[in-house]
Amino acid sequence: MPHDQLDALVAEQTAYYRARAGEYDKTSAYDAVSRAALVAALEAFAPYGRVLELACGTGEWTVELVKHASQLTAVDVAPEMLALNRERVGRADVRYLRADLFAWTPPERYDVAFFSAWLSHVPPQRFEDFWALVATCLNDHGRVFLIDDLPAVAAHEQLIPRSPAPAVERRLTTGARYRTVKVFYEPNTLKARLVELGWDVDIRTVGWRFYWAAASRNDTRQSR
Ligand SMILES: C[S@@+](CC[C@H](N)C(=O)[O-])C[C@H]1O[C@@H](n2cnc3c(N)ncnc32)[C@H](O)[C@@H]1O
Repeated sequence: MPHDQLDALVAEQTAYYRARAGEYDKTSAYDAVSRAALVAALEAFAPYGRVLELACGTGEWTVELVKHASQLTAVDVAPEMLALNRERVGRADVRYLRADLFAWTPPERYDVAFFSAWLSHVPPQRFEDFWALVATCLNDHGRVFLIDDLPAVAAHEQLIPRSPAPAVERRLTTGARYRTVKVFYEPNTLKARLVELGWDVDIRTVGWRFYWAAASRNDTRQSR
């Protein structure tokens, strides 16, 4: 599949999230039981120190991270998302960066990298580069915490066949339609891939919909 088709899909994903920002919170609600379990897992992980949130969105998890981090940097490609996040979190000490994670070099290293509902939007062709980026974001003792959707969620999506990467169609309340990348990982498969790339990983499921993973490099010299 030519690169330009994948680039076009990824660009459409960016356009989708920019357009969706204003209605994101109304259309992405967690059930209370799952959210409480995910918050408990994040608290047990203890995201202390210098924390980096990738693809932060409107701040669903930024509000939790600020409770623990001594310094928090939140990155997103969509200025609309960053503006909503800033308003919701209301903390002058959170650093916001607008950046495309497929073309970004972190300005510094962090103790923790966090991302929710992001890994499933990374095309499989960019999986290794993305994890190399995550490694570059971390200091030698750096740790990762991520949350994403389990494969059962696919039954609630409009899958698009023959795409340059696994993709779904999403519709805004305006009726506008967009394609986004959506890769559903079975936790053991994801764990095996990450172990191959040099990560120690613990993955747990929460209900039918979510998994969370905690990871750290098992050899800090790899992918640097
Ligand atoms: C499904 S939302 C998740 C938002 C938030 N992490 C949460 O859990 O609510 C995906 C986020 O990724 C952002 N995003 C999409 N493409 C991106 C890219 N290339 N670089 C950085 N952020 C991107 C979108 O703007 C959106 O905020």
